[in-house]
Amino acid sequence: MSASPLVRLQRDIDAIAHRAAPPAPLTAVAVAQASGLAPDEWQRTVLESDARQLILLCARQSGKSTISAVLATHAALYQAPSLVLCLSPSQRQSTELFRKCLDIYRALGEPVAAIVQTRLELELANGSRLVALPSGEAKIRGFSGVDLLLCDEASRIPEALYQSARPMLSISGGRLVLLSTPFGKRGFFHHEWTEGGASWERTKITAHDCPRISADWLVQERATIGQWWFSQEYLCSFEEAEDQLFHDHDIDAAFSDTIAPLWAPEGLQP
Ligand SMILES: Nc1ncnc2c1ncn2[C@@H]1O[C@H](COP(=O)(O)OP(=O)(O)OP(=O)(O)O)[C@@H](O)[C@H]1O
Ligand SMILES: [Mg+2]
Repeated sequence: MSASPLVRLQRDIDAIAHRAAPPAPLTAVAVAQASGLAPDEWQRTVLESDARQLILLCARQSGKSTISAVLATHAALYQAPSLVLCLSPSQRQSTELFRKCLDIYRALGEPVAAIVQTRLELELANGSRLVALPSGEAKIRGFSGVDLLLCDEASRIPEALYQSARPMLSISGGRLVLLSTPFGKRGFFHHEWTEGGASWERTKITAHDCPRISADWLVQERATIGQWWFSQEYLCSFEEAEDQLFHDHDIDAAFSDTIAPLWAPEGLQP
């Protein structure tokens, strides 16, 4: 549905006003501080990074979504016009990340006027857009020229969803940030972390590295949830499935490149 003439007029007025008096640009660290957040040292490093691909392998509640939301809001406000997308395993989680961006935008005093502001999208007078994506592969197609793609809870995003999102960055050369706790030795998140090569900048933050998580609380938590969950959620360890019959290294050791297979699909006969 197209916008009414009055809404379009207001958009034009906001865009002209923005061009006449854009806000003084801030760095991402300054955006965090101006929104009331004192970034931890690792968060500051992330905000200052200019890497095109970032992986944040971080413990629960360490602040990975918060700092990614700062990156997103900074890009929308001060690297305009930019298209910023939040992707997660579910629409609810994407919306949560988007809400963190809105909180930061409001805490800054909305330095660029909003032209459209809904539960899922913020469009600014400087031409930037920030969008919380749904989780269906078919539903996310259609976006192009993406400047920043944030994949929250990346270890739980289905492979097909990730693979269909990546091409959105192909023309724009936009940034990609994967942020997550681990979820087993499988999937693209584990692959990019362990074998993704030098094109990724990797940050690992366990609960012990987070100043807001107390040592006493971690001792209690380990006793309550057990070592397996504790290692995954708080120590950033890619654990084998709890009910797995064979260890991954035993399965890997069972394969060989030197023995010809007894049978193979047609066309692949040795
Ligand atoms: N530098 C900081 N200073 C103070 N509070 C912070 C900082 N970074 C994050 N927080 C707070 O810590 C809490 C957890 O942050 P956040 O939701 O970003 O963590 P997370 O790693 O994404 O957690 P989860 O794994 O549960 O999704 C929030 O209340 C957030 O406001
Ligand atoms: Mg989070």
